[in-house]
Amino acid sequence: MEYQEVATWRRHLHTIPETAFEEVETSAFIARQLTALQIPFEAGIARTGVVATLKKGRSERAIGLRADIDALDITEANTFAHASQRAGKMHACGHDGHTAMLLGAARALARDGVFDGIVYLIFQPAEENEGGAAVAIEEGLFERFPMEAVFGLHNRPGLPIGTFGTCAGNAMASFDVFEIVVKGKGSHAARPQLAADPILAASQCINLLQSIVSRNVDPLLSLVVSVTQIHAGATWNVIPGEAVIRGTVRALDPATRDLGERRLREVAEHAARLHDCTAHITYSRRYPPLFNDPELTAFCAEVARGCVDAGHVHDIPPSLGSEDFAFMLERKRGAYIWIGNGPTDGDRILHNPHYEFNDAAIPHGIAYWTRLVETYLAPTP
Ligand code: NI
Repeated sequence: MEYQEVATWRRHLHTIPETAFEEVETSAFIARQLTALQIPFEAGIARTGVVATLKKGRSERAIGLRADIDALDITEANTFAHASQRAGKMHACGHDGHTAMLLGAARALARDGVFDGIVYLIFQPAEENEGGAAVAIEEGLFERFPMEAVFGLHNRPGLPIGTFGTCAGNAMASFDVFEIVVKGKGSHAARPQLAADPILAASQCINLLQSIVSRNVDPLLSLVVSVTQIHAGATWNVIPGEAVIRGTVRALDPATRDLGERRLREVAEHAARLHDCTAHITYSRRYPPLFNDPELTAFCAEVARGCVDAGHVHDIPPSLGSEDFAFMLERKRGAYIWIGNGPTDGDRILHNPHYEFNDAAIPHGIAYWTRLVETYLAPTP
């Protein structure tokens, strides 16, 4: 069975997890498979990425299909034969499955695919943390491989095998991080009148940051402001000179993201000033919100409905998680959808040391990619 061979590729990839921009063996494996299929490709995209080109017919119309290929810094808890052979690294987000399915689709399309145009198969590194998509774009991905639309697919535990999930419009959140260094004046704890207490200022700052979501944002929109670290002081009887707050801000749309950053700066500055302290703010924008083109999301849902039983393609709500495919969707129309990975079974959740991509999803993923290409680039009679 063809799919069983793709499952063996997936299991092999599972044994060699590699993280951001170090996916050397992974991309060598991709290159070997593409070579065997006689599909031309270029390696070294964003250092360790690969882009293959499939062309049929005479049309110059082109689309991109993207799979992320990287793993995570997690020590695998599974003990099966194809468990990770790389200490401290693991495919715990199913990107091994994404890579194998796109290779499987490449094979199906090269052999039997009926389409007129160009398909770029984008094997992208460093989805987790490091924004490999942004690096690929900066290096000229869309100039070297001009395409009119780009599509992504991610496995989703909790959605049954043989189902798909779609979400038009704002579908995933931005991911920003911040650090606020509150600087005051240290003193003996018995003489607080001589201090400018950064701990009190930081405490009020943390409280007031929670007013951004409750008082500044339209209740129908989504923003998360989470303080995840606070560091200050070293002993009992000294008011320290400095306190550090760190955390994350996530929003589903760019305007709410802008509002969150602006108010965070204002709140921190004013809270510090109230106590004769100063706030030194570092706000770093990591991933933008992910926007699914509504028309193309409807197209993808229609494609998915052609691959699985009717009623197995679901509209699902947006997620406050984030995904670097959002960088591609900032530049190109496209859509990112989810493929069912089966029950969560306690530990079968993303980024868990027991996670595993479910091979039973492979035929559905390959069918989706193949049908998407054959529909989007259907030959005109
Ligand atoms: Ni992932």
